[in-house]
Order: sequence, then C-alpha cells, then structure tokens
Amino acid sequence: MERTFPVRVRPMGARERVLVLDFGGQYTHLIARRCRELGVYAEIVPQDRRLDEDALHGVKGVILSGGPRTVTEQDLMGVTAENLGELRKRQIPILGICFGHQLLAVAHGAELAPGGNPEYGNTRIRLLDESSILRGLEDGQTVWMSHSDEVRSLPDDLKALALSRDDRIAAFQSDDGLIYGVQFHPEVAHTPNGRSVLRSFLFDICGFDGGWTPEDEVEAIIRWVSEEVGDEQVLMGTSGGVDSTVAAVLIKMAIGERLHCVFVDNGLLREGEREDVQSAFREMGFENFHVVDASDEFLSALEGIEDPEEKRRIIAETFIRVFERKAKELEETYGPFTFLGQGTIYPDRVESAATGKATAVIKSHHNVRLPEWMRMRVIEPLRNLYKDEVRRVGAQLGIPDRLLRRQPFPGPSLAIRIGGEVTREQLRILRHADRILQEEMSKDPIYDRIWQSFCVLLPVRSVGVMGDQRTYQQACVIRIVESVDAMTASVSTPDWEILLRAAARIANEVEGINRVVYDLTSKPPGTIEWY
Ligand code: XMP
Repeated sequence: MERTFPVRVRPMGARERVLVLDFGGQYTHLIARRCRELGVYAEIVPQDRRLDEDALHGVKGVILSGGPRTVTEQDLMGVTAENLGELRKRQIPILGICFGHQLLAVAHGAELAPGGNPEYGNTRIRLLDESSILRGLEDGQTVWMSHSDEVRSLPDDLKALALSRDDRIAAFQSDDGLIYGVQFHPEVAHTPNGRSVLRSFLFDICGFDGGWTPEDEVEAIIRWVSEEVGDEQVLMGTSGGVDSTVAAVLIKMAIGERLHCVFVDNGLLREGEREDVQSAFREMGFENFHVVDASDEFLSALEGIEDPEEKRRIIAETFIRVFERKAKELEETYGPFTFLGQGTIYPDRVESAATGKATAVIKSHHNVRLPEWMRMRVIEPLRNLYKDEVRRVGAQLGIPDRLLRRQPFPGPSLAIRIGGEVTREQLRILRHADRILQEEMSKDPIYDRIWQSFCVLLPVRSVGVMGDQRTYQQACVIRIVESVDAMTASVSTPDWEILLRAAARIANEVEGINRVVYDLTSKPPGTIEWY
C-alpha cells in the first residue's frame, strides 16, 4: 500500500508540549483534550512524577489538575515541592485549576480556609484585572465551580484577578507572571469562556504557537514503530474496531508484510461482520490477514452458562486458547513473532485517579492478558491519542469510512446482550433485530453523534397478537446512548419516527420477538450494556 504524508515531522518525545499533572481530578483528561483541541500537544503525568531534565524536555507550560483532596502540609513537601522549585528555576509557567489553584496559592504563602462554604455549579465572577489570563472575559462572567476549600488572604507577590460571591478568590497570578490559579474549571463546557482562559495561558503566557494536529503524529508514529520493531515480526489480534484497525494500518505502513493480523470469529458477531471486516482489510492491501473460525469452540464453551461475568471469563479464556493456537501455527510457517500489536489508546493507558479505577469493579472488562509463554513485547502505535484523534488519523490514512464510523463493540460480543443462555437460536433472533435497528438508525443524521445503538434480547416472554393468533414471545430492548468516553452516558433521543419504525419492523419481521421497549436509563445509574 503506497501512501504519501505531509512532511511536517516532529520526533516523538521531543515535541513542544504542556504537561498536565494529575492530582486525581475527574476532569484531567478534559484538560488535556482541550489543550490538544487548541493545537497544543498535552500529556498527562501523575502528581508524583519527578520533573527532571528528561521529563521537562520540550515542556513550555504545566497545568495542575483539580483533585478530591484538601491541600495538606505533605503536599508542600516532597516531590511536589521539588517539582515547583524545578519549574521556577526553568521559568516554566504553571496554571493551577481548582485543587491546583489552592495548592499553588498555599505553596506561595496564602491561607487556605477549609470546607464550610462550598460553591458548586454556575457561579458569577467579578473581574479585577483583565490583562492576563482572563483577557477577553466580561465582568460578571459565568464559570463552573466545584469546591469547598478556598484560598484566603494572598501574600504580597500574588494578586487576585477575580472574585466570586463573598469576595472569594476565583483567580490569581504571581507578580513575575509565572504562576496562575483559577478556582473554577475552564476545561468544562459549563464555563462558556473556559477555552479562552486556556488559550491565554498556552499562547500568551507559555508562548506556544499552536497548530498541532493528530495527523502530525502519523509520520513520527510510523518511524517509531519501524525503529522499535527493527527486522522482527508483529502479531496482532484485529477485531475490525476503529482502534485496532488504525493501529494495524500504521504498523503495516512501518513494517509491511511482517505484520500478521488474526481475526477470530467467535460466533457471537453481528450479521455480516466477519465478511465486512475481511473485505475491508483486503481492500486496504493486507496480505497477512488470517481469519480463524472458532464459532463452535466458543458456543460449546458457553453452553448452559447464564451468568454474564462467567460468560466474559469463558470468552476471554477461549480467545486466548484460539489465538495461541493460531500464533503457534503461524510461527511454524513464518518464524517467530517478537511483538504483539495492540490498539490501546491514551485513556486506556492513563486513567485519571478519580475516573479510571471505579469502573473496573463493575464489569470485568477489556484487554485480554496473554499467557506467560507468549512473552512478546507490546507495541501500541496509538498510545498517545484520544478516540476522535484516532478517527482523524484513520481518515488521513484513507481507511474506509464504514470502518471509521463503527461504534464500539464489546469483546464478549452479543453474548452479553443476551439474557440467559447463549444459543444459536437466541443469536439468530438478536442478530436479525440488531440488523434492522442499524438499518433504520443509519438513516438518521444523529447516527454520527451516537456512542452505541444496539438491541438486547431479554429472557422474558409476553403476550402479543399477530393476525388472529395469540403469540407468546421474547422482548427486545433498544438501547441508544450518547457518550464521550463510556464512563457516563446519556439516553439518546433520535427521531421518534425512526424508533417507531425500527420497533415495528423488529416485532413484525423477527421471528421470536413480539415486543420492543426503549431503554431510558442513563449511566449512572445504569451501565451501557445490560449484562
Ligand atoms: P458499560 O456496560 O460498563 O460499558 O457501561 C462501557 C463500554 O464498555 C463496553 N463493554 C465492554 N467492552 N469487554 C469489552 O471489550 C466487556 O466485557 C465490556 N463490557 C462493556 C460497552 O460496550 C461500552 O462501550
């Protein structure tokens, strides 16, 4: 596959960037995303990362995130104190947000008033100085707050830039123009001019010139993959999902046919999925694309299993067994594989302390761990990109739109959308219903805004009537949600006509379903998948 690239190249690692120090705030990823949207490459690092010479290479600004804690004595010692000293020595500007604002103020001698007088939600601020970070904002500006501790009585070398109700300090800066704090959250959509605050910090204060785009990374990624892999071979499990597809194309561009992709048909896929993926990879010029039909193996392993967590465990184990067997077979023909390619993206790797961990306990998710003997080195070309950035890169690489528009689809596939035992008959019913829903939904312009739209088959029967016949068949749920990162989700409100048409077609055309309901539950308290 021959492709050309723009020649703007920035080597990975040495690029200009802003660091976001993560103190466990829920919005840490949002801060990084907003900076990138403004054309400045942002990287998240944990609060206890020592910012030495290496870590600060190319760094022109640092943002301290929010966080759930109260600033303590300990925060003002140890790594954070050393880091603040190092940044000051190098004259790197710092912006503190919420907890970060309080931390910076206290580190410079301000007094902290703990708790007692919280501000939550939309708040108006009075501007005292519009010359620096608040440039362009209007007096009486609405911002979004979420705090209970507050900064009081600034020392002489810090000056207040804005006040909120009861004269609380909503923003400040240091006399030398290197330290800034905002008590509100400029990164959330509820702060209408938040973007302008970040822009002032990045462009006017740190001196970034913007202009970074995810597409700029393509060339550097390809060079990085080919340097890492050298003359070795890479094996990769591909599902046809956006991430693994874009990752595979990048690896292939770097090392050509030394990449072998394995697509496992687990017998739980949607209608036509295997054929679609296979033909798309063929179109993209993949020669070493190996399809393994393991339907029987998966379905017999799932026989009699009703518990969704048990289904997940069995599917993950079976996947490993099938993948391992195929890897051995391929090694006999093509020689050893040193690397395992993966479509891991930035949020999978860097989980914000507050948002990342809780979900793991709710459902046993995601990445399958390979057995010890397959001790391959992992190569993750998308490790620094967000989902929408991956799509942009994919579009630039000429990956067919039908692959880039695909919604996320869980590894355990339709097994976790069937209540009770997974049988071929249940799969037939669900596949048919799901195909109808996709056909109808893709006619609605809302489709591109939707995170996922799918059907769930319930192990519940109800009475219906068809012609003169009484029916007693299963119920199907239509679930359509909007989301940014699947951590939270809201119920989508597509055109009512489309929903009604899909529901009518499902109840009429699918043998086995006589009732269709729409799921009105957001996440939380629901999850996106039913099982
Ligand atoms: P929940 O249901 O936890 O789903 O709100 C959040 C996102 O994760 C997907 N999901 C899974 N993906 N293995 C996966 O690879 C799983 O076991 C699994 N369970 C849920 C789900 O489709 C949604 O996008």
